[in-house]
Amino acid sequence: MEYPHRPVLVQEVVQDLVTAPDGIYVDGTVGSGGHSEAIGRRIQGRGQLLCLDRDSEAIKISKQRLSFLGERVRFIKASYAEADQVLRDLGWGKTHGILLDLGMSSFQLERSGRGFSFYRDEPLDMRMDSETGLTAAHLIHHLSENELEGILRQYGEERRAKAIARRIIQERKTTPIFSSLHLARVIESVVPRSRRLGAKHPATRTFQALRIAVNKELEHLALFLEKSPSVLCGSGRLVILSYHSLEDRKVKQTMMQWEKGCQCPPTLPQCCCGKSPLFRRLHKKGIRPDQREIEENPRARSAVLRAAERITTHDTSHQGL
Ligand SMILES: C[S@@+](CC[C@H](N)C(=O)[O-])C[C@H]1O[C@@H](n2cnc3c(N)ncnc32)[C@H](O)[C@@H]1O
Repeated sequence: MEYPHRPVLVQEVVQDLVTAPDGIYVDGTVGSGGHSEAIGRRIQGRGQLLCLDRDSEAIKISKQRLSFLGERVRFIKASYAEADQVLRDLGWGKTHGILLDLGMSSFQLERSGRGFSFYRDEPLDMRMDSETGLTAAHLIHHLSENELEGILRQYGEERRAKAIARRIIQERKTTPIFSSLHLARVIESVVPRSRRLGAKHPATRTFQALRIAVNKELEHLALFLEKSPSVLCGSGRLVILSYHSLEDRKVKQTMMQWEKGCQCPPTLPQCCCGKSPLFRRLHKKGIRPDQREIEENPRARSAVLRAAERITTHDTSHQGL
């Protein structure tokens, strides 16, 4: 069967993640189950896989795809930031590896009907979990111009944040913006025609910013990173695929800090707390897909894989582990 999302760097993910075939693994962002299928084919014996996603459609699709794993696999609709609680509730204890494949799936972009794409005329929702939280349309109609500008600047790194926020506020006074295509047209009207010929659609950064704000993506990632050392067993591994610099920066800085064993802010020139390393990074630089993979799957072009392994001998007494 053809699945709506093509997984990125599959071989590399499985190689970094699965070190004990009879271990317990967590796919925190199961999506259409592409990575989970590859992980599931590697586990054996007492090996088990826990699949999480905030999107109930993703759970439905992956359940069907991973049915070959039978009792070995469990599916829970939850944020990966709650993985610790889910593992406790299941009585599974600590895990040998956790995968996060951040961002959204091709299913959400192309088939969910929730306004993630500026090429489709859909209600401006953008929630990955359609059962909770505020929609993108709600933000657009309730934020002040300054708040909207801040979101576009912070989460979209949008240079035209001020002009776009102002134009959106003007538009909403006369015509409420409830559809993705309407919002895309409003943004296009701010960007001079001569600047529209570049590779990126002028609405790319605004849509990214709104999606991140609606789903509180950076908050979930920060919470997960804070808790993840306590979820992994000794030598357990964390593998994270990021698709934009905001996520990747956070992942990279956290892993570097773990490796230093340091609790000092990343802005300090050197560690002054003297703690031993908590993790070792598997790659000093992020792994990126090669040209062939990018040609076959253009969505892979911005992917960066980072991975770290917990150090067994680390004195955890002061970490509360
Ligand atoms: C890039 S897709 C994953 C694709 C998957 N690896 C595959 O092979 O099909 C990202 C998925 O993460 C989910 N997601 C995003 N934020 C999440 C969170 N905080 N907790 C759980 N799932 C999340 C999205 O709903 C989406 O299904």
